[in-house]
Amino acid sequence: MGKVYVFDHPLIQHKLTFIRDKNTGTKEFRELVDEVASLMAFEITRDMPLEDIEVETPVSKANAKTLAGKKLGIVPILRAGLGMVDGILKLIPAAKVGHIGLYRDPETLKPIEYYVKLPSDVEERDFILVDPMLATGGSAVEAIHSLKKRGAKSIKFMCLVACPEGVDAIKEEHPDVDIFIAALDEKLNEKGYIVPGLGDAGDRLYGTK
Ligand code: PRP
Ligand code: URA
Repeated sequence: MGKVYVFDHPLIQHKLTFIRDKNTGTKEFRELVDEVASLMAFEITRDMPLEDIEVETPVSKANAKTLAGKKLGIVPILRAGLGMVDGILKLIPAAKVGHIGLYRDPETLKPIEYYVKLPSDVEERDFILVDPMLATGGSAVEAIHSLKKRGAKSIKFMCLVACPEGVDAIKEEHPDVDIFIAALDEKLNEKGYIVPGLGDAGDRLYGTK
């Protein structure tokens, strides 16, 4: 069964509070999402394999560590997931970036896929699928199906705010996928919004409504 990790680092929690605040404007919201994505990338890459190399310091030879060259892929779920990509790339600039376009039908809340573009070597990459929100879980579950259908073997899902309904949906459909979140909120409301959540992540990132 997939595990759920809540990143309770004080910097992540502090910044998330301002992301939630309805008085935070678009510019600051975008900057904060970017910063939290970097901090979460730092935590989620904790298990990246290292290998030994030798370097020469100005003083002597040293046995040192370097990343073992695991290939990573970052895949935002459009559009709100885009707000997390640059923050992750600041820490892992060599990662390739795929895109999966999905939106929730406002009536049925079911995800509608409209775009998929992934790196060509899908089977060889470890993917981090990103979206700020995990609500009903429909979008994430569909995006994971989409990645698997194209050959992805290793997928982690990372989001800012999740609710139990979304977490359960991923666990049930994709028990091989670990979930990394900044907060697990109380519930979904009748309109499919996370309570207390942060509102509509895409609209707040891009100033639409
Ligand atoms: C939001 C959010 C997730 C989805 C979560 O996207 O960014 O992708 O809803 O809801 P779910 O777990 O119930 O599927 P939205 O469909 O509003 O599209 P947008 O990113 O284009 O704004
Ligand atoms: N999508 C959002 O952007 N916010 C929610 O609360 C739920 C889905």
